[in-house]
Amino acid sequence: MDLHQEYPIRLRINGQDRQFEVQAWVTLLDLLRERAGLTGTKKGCDHGQCGACTVLLDGKRVNSCLTLAVMQNGHEVTTVEGLADGDGLHPLQQAFIDCDAFQCGYCTPGQLCSAAGLIAEGQARTGDDVRELMSGNLCRCGAYPQIREAVMQVMGIDGKPAEGGEDGKKTPFTTGPVLA
Ligand code: FES
Ligand code: FES
Repeated sequence: MDLHQEYPIRLRINGQDRQFEVQAWVTLLDLLRERAGLTGTKKGCDHGQCGACTVLLDGKRVNSCLTLAVMQNGHEVTTVEGLADGDGLHPLQQAFIDCDAFQCGYCTPGQLCSAAGLIAEGQARTGDDVRELMSGNLCRCGAYPQIREAVMQVMGIDGKPAEGGEDGKKTPFTTGPVLA
């Protein structure tokens, strides 16, 4: 087997059709950062442990360090660069600013993509759900309370204990422009 053999793949990245020739062992993360020029997606552990590399693959959140680019031929990828709607920030991006939900910012692209995927999944109903379902995204700066608050803000969860002791949910989920 020739390890240097390259394979043609097509991906739709942030709404644009892109073509690449890649070796079989190139991860989606490395393709995005080194071949597509999209360095917003971060490499933390490169082993599926930190969530810094989270992107949306056909709308579902994945660790891009754990999937090979050739496996995603024909699929659609949204990175943090694709969340904003032109000059308009994605609601999650605005909420992260409003809530001071980052310090160094290294984990933030993964947090944002993960939160967008979380909201689209529709499984989270409470602040505790947000904490649990975002637990794959680590933040070494410890901005977890603010990250949780920002996601809850976009989801319309007020964070105050409701009947039964869970956070109250005020409005239906909103996915923002990219995932609508
Ligand atoms: S870089 Fe992919 S999970 Fe850490
Ligand atoms: S803001 Fe620094 S790692 Fe999360």
